[in-house]
Amino acid sequence: MTMSSTLNIQNLTVSLRSGLPLLRQVNLTLEPGEVRALVGESGAGKSMIGKAVLGTLPPATRVTGGQIFLRGQALVHLNAAQRRHCVAQSAALIPQDPLTALNPVRRIAPQITDPLTRIHGWSAERAQTRALELLDRVEIRDPARVMRSYPHELSGGMRQRILIAAAFAPSPPLIVADEPTTALDVTVQKQILKLIRELQKEVGTAVLFVTHDMGVVAKICQKVSVLFQGRVMEDSTTEAIFSSPTHPYTRALIAATPSYADPARSFSPVPPELIAQMKSKIAQEEIW
Ligand SMILES: Nc1ncnc2c1ncn2[C@@H]1O[C@H](COP(=O)(O)OP(=O)(O)O)[C@@H](O)[C@H]1O
Ligand SMILES: [Mg+2]
Repeated sequence: MTMSSTLNIQNLTVSLRSGLPLLRQVNLTLEPGEVRALVGESGAGKSMIGKAVLGTLPPATRVTGGQIFLRGQALVHLNAAQRRHCVAQSAALIPQDPLTALNPVRRIAPQITDPLTRIHGWSAERAQTRALELLDRVEIRDPARVMRSYPHELSGGMRQRILIAAAFAPSPPLIVADEPTTALDVTVQKQILKLIRELQKEVGTAVLFVTHDMGVVAKICQKVSVLFQGRVMEDSTTEAIFSSPTHPYTRALIAATPSYADPARSFSPVPPELIAQMKSKIAQEEIW
């Protein structure tokens, strides 16, 4: 880690009010322009990491330890307003569900241009030009018409293209993409992934890419953090994760991905014995 890291998370612990930890001493870094996958099964804490970075943790949870540096700025002890300002300047979210992420009673245009004028201080004209340029870039036909539309007039795939355009429009140093294709049809998923990958390269944005799909990891990520019950079990390059995974859980996740396991073999979920073994190890460590 250097001061020039886009994101540096150190020993981050997030807990429920009861004290139950949801993230346990998480460490990770993201260098400028790098794409890091957060993988692990449902409930592992992938989205929680993204929310901790963006300052959108659920009210029932709080940071109980560690620090998050966004472009060198420590976030954890900022007040809510300072934090919102700092995060909005540097980071954007591509959400999981494009159907609920847009405001249903506002036209598309201000939903893309407002952040550009209010947060980034652009002129209305510059924001409008950039919005049209990005809508065209995400292969939306007739961008001017779409700008005047309401979300309900557009398909899920169209809405996700719009959210991608909005996220990349200010060329932010960091984007958190939280399972950005899981709500979409398989054919649309491929197109959306390709767009994110291309824009990420063109803009040079670092991306924290939440996914449970090791196939996606292999295609677009350089680094991988493997999560289990709020812990980073393995942190490595994508190449090393696939060629020589060190943790049995990582091996099980790879084996559970049909396209990367032997295609002739049937789908194999992570063995329940391994899950039980890991849970008991974590429980023991926490007693001590
Ligand atoms: N709003 C919430 N209040 C309390 N616990 C939550 C909330 N959201 C998620 N959790 C818990 O936090 C853990 C991590 O959840 P999450 O980060 O959403 O998992 P993932 O994205 O890996 O599927 C889970 O145990 C989940 O039950
Ligand atoms: Mg999630």
